[in-house]
Amino acid sequence: MTLTRRLALAAVLAAPLAAAPAMAQTQITVQHALPANSHTGVGASTFGQAFERLTNGRYKVVIQRNDNEREMVESVQIGTIDCTFTSTGPVGNFVPEVRLFDVPFLFRDATHARGVLDGETGQQVLARFPARGLVGVIWIENGFRNLTNSRHEVRTPADVRGLKIRTMENQVHMRAFTTLGALPTPMAFSELVPALQQGTVDGQENPISVIVANNLNQVQRYMTMTRHVYSPQVMICNPQTVGRLNAADRALFQQAAVEAQTANRARVTADDDAGVAELRRRGMTVVTEVDTAAFQAALAPAFAEWERTLDAATLRRIRDWQ
Ligand code: PAF
Repeated sequence: MTLTRRLALAAVLAAPLAAAPAMAQTQITVQHALPANSHTGVGASTFGQAFERLTNGRYKVVIQRNDNEREMVESVQIGTIDCTFTSTGPVGNFVPEVRLFDVPFLFRDATHARGVLDGETGQQVLARFPARGLVGVIWIENGFRNLTNSRHEVRTPADVRGLKIRTMENQVHMRAFTTLGALPTPMAFSELVPALQQGTVDGQENPISVIVANNLNQVQRYMTMTRHVYSPQVMICNPQTVGRLNAADRALFQQAAVEAQTANRARVTADDDAGVAELRRRGMTVVTEVDTAAFQAALAPAFAEWERTLDAATLRRIRDWQ
C-alpha cells in the first residue's frame, strides 16, 4: 500500500472517533484505609459506582487506599483529595464534637448507634464540620471494636494491665486504655503490623471486620470480644468539591452516599456474624465471655472526666435513645 493510501485509510478509521462529541467528565478522588474487599472498600466502591451511574458517567470516581487516616483528613482539608471514608479515630482532632461518639460503652448495639448517627444528634455533629473546612457527608461504620494481643487471654480489666496497646490517634480511646492500666501507643494504621511484628506493641483493638480483612490473626493470637467502643466512620469531603456540584448533582451525591452507607453497614453486620468462626478457623483464640460490667466499672474515672470535658447533656441524650 502506498503512503498516500495508508494515510487515507488511517483518516477513514480515525474519522468516527474524531466526530464523536467529547464528554466532559469530572474526576472525584476518594481515599479510604482498608482493602477493596472490606466493609470500607465496599462502601467506597458502592459510592463510586452509584454516583457514576446516577450522573450518567459525567463524573468518574477514583478510589484509592491510604492506611493513614489523619493524613487523609488533612488532604481533604487542603483539597489534594476530594473525599475520604475514615473512622472517627483522628477526626476529633479536627472537629472536637465528634469525640462524643468515641466514648466507650456509649452505644448498646448497632441499632442504637445507627439510630443516633442518622438522627438529630448525628446530623448536628455533621453540621459542625464546615466550620473546620470540611464537609461531613454521611455516617458509615467500622462496627464495635475488640481487643487483640499476642500475650494472653483477656477476660477482665486486670488482664489488660501492662499491655502495650496500639490505639488510634484518639484522645478518648487513649484515656480509656490508660485508665485500664494499659500503655496506649497511638499510631496510624499503616504502622500497626510492623509494630506488632517487632513487639513495639503487644496488641491493638479493632472491629472484627478490620481484623478479618487485614489478616491480623497472622500477628495476633488472642481476641476478646470486648466490644468496648462503637467505631463510626464518616465520609468527609472538601467543601470546594461539594460546592462545585449543582443542586441536582448534590442530591445525587447524597443518594450515592446513602447507597454506600447501606452497603457498608450490611457488610459490617455480615462480618460480625461470621467473624468469630472465621478467626477461630484461622487459629485465633477468641474469648467471647467478657465481664462487661467490670470493664465499665474500671473506666469510672474516665467516664467522670468525659462528663466534664465533653457535652454531658448530649451524652445523656445518646444513652437515653430508644
Ligand atoms: O484502627 C484504625 O486505625 C481504624 O479502625 C482503621 C483500621 C483504619 C479503619 O477505619
